[in-house]
Amino acid sequence: MSETKHILLRWKDVKADFRKLAEYRKHEGFEGLKKALAAKPEEVIDVVKNSGLRGRGGAGFPTGVKWSFIPKQEPIKYFVVNADESETGTFKDRLIMETNPYQLLEGLLIGAYAIGAHTAYIYLRGEFWDIAAQLDACIEEMRKEGLVGKNILGSGYDCEIYTHLGAGAYICGEETALLNSLEGKLGQPRVRPPFPANKGGGLYGEPTVVNNVETIANVPWIMTHGADAYKAIGTEQSAGTKLYCVSGHVKKPGVYELPFSATFRELLVDICGGPSVEGRSFKALLPSGGSGPIVPLNDKVLDTRMSYEDTAKIGTIIGSASLIVMDDSVDITWVASKVTKFFKHESCGKCTPCREGTYWLDKVIDRIMAGEGSERDITLIENVAKNMAGITLCALGEFAANPIIHTIKQFPDDFKQHVKKDGKAAKPVALPAAGD
Ligand SMILES: Cc1cc2nc3c(=O)[nH]c(=O)nc-3n(C[C@H](O)[C@H](O)[C@H](O)COP(=O)(O)O)c2cc1C
Ligand code: SF4
Repeated sequence: MSETKHILLRWKDVKADFRKLAEYRKHEGFEGLKKALAAKPEEVIDVVKNSGLRGRGGAGFPTGVKWSFIPKQEPIKYFVVNADESETGTFKDRLIMETNPYQLLEGLLIGAYAIGAHTAYIYLRGEFWDIAAQLDACIEEMRKEGLVGKNILGSGYDCEIYTHLGAGAYICGEETALLNSLEGKLGQPRVRPPFPANKGGGLYGEPTVVNNVETIANVPWIMTHGADAYKAIGTEQSAGTKLYCVSGHVKKPGVYELPFSATFRELLVDICGGPSVEGRSFKALLPSGGSGPIVPLNDKVLDTRMSYEDTAKIGTIIGSASLIVMDDSVDITWVASKVTKFFKHESCGKCTPCREGTYWLDKVIDRIMAGEGSERDITLIENVAKNMAGITLCALGEFAANPIIHTIKQFPDDFKQHVKKDGKAAKPVALPAAGD
């Protein structure tokens, strides 16, 4: 079993209440910020680049590289933390904000300093109103100790942090829709280029970095312990630890922090206790919530490391690491239908392939679910999904196509049993009982 070292949930190791500023400061709190403020902004960017830190919002983009795209000569820049946490099966960012809020705020100040921003925002999904209030209280505690606002820690650097609540749309987790929403506009993605880091593409048209909560919460540890120490954890291309969110058919679901070198078996069997119902066995896994490719949960997958590069080798992604586990009682046709309904509901409607494609996918799957579909309908939904992939304005269109393409590929028999053959009626999909 890989050694567990907590970076994001450090309070577990030192057994302290990190919701209290004094406790956080007693355990390395704000040491990383002190180091950063004593260095040049470009040196801070280099440390983050060398650490190998990659974005935890789903795409895994190298964080230091993203920061280096911000043009130095522009007088106004913004730093935005994405706390929308809208991916299906993801519930890790809230844990960081609820149990280790100062580490996020410290990381945010380090990032803002590195790119030369004096205003930073934390954009939270509307349901996180209580967390926003807690963060606001933390910011006021920091103000009393000179850790936010004017002349932070006597360094001459000024930065203000604001929280902002969204109104509850999945698409507002997409960074350009988030920026629109933050500006008070309709939460729909923007056409790129210009990208958020470019003049004209960011918040109020100014160069902007958008980073996920978990990404930023790693930064203080990296500044305190150095890039090499961080790089030594995890795998070659996936440095550090990851918060894995486990839900579904395991005995002990929850959020677990493990190095990227840990395997699915270590997490799902050794830690989560295996299938939740005696006599059942694992059938399928969505390693990245509804938006990533589904895989059969067999020995090969169980022995795969939960890193960016290793999950790619088994035809899926680790994304934001929202592992939804299904045992052999689950009909994958039902899963495809649920996920499709979600994306149809959340499609913002701005571009035609996604708006129309999600509508048609849902309509045809409903027909199959009712036992009214034919074998041609399976080919039809595959074609609709393939025609959406790669041509939509944002990745939601891709996410919506994924469940269909991959569930039909990985679990063809689950679909075939529900379609009519030779004109004979097929078996409708049995829906799980409420609470299952
Ligand atoms: C439809 C959609 C929803 C997304 N939802 C989230 C989200 O809830 N939280 C998040 O951090 N990133 C989300 N992202 C990714 C963001 O667009 C962006 O890549 C990320 O915030 C960048 O941060 P990172 O580099 O630290 O990963 C979403 C992307 C798409 C296409
Ligand atoms: S892909 Fe879907 S969610 Fe994204 S812009 Fe187009 S319609 Fe909106």
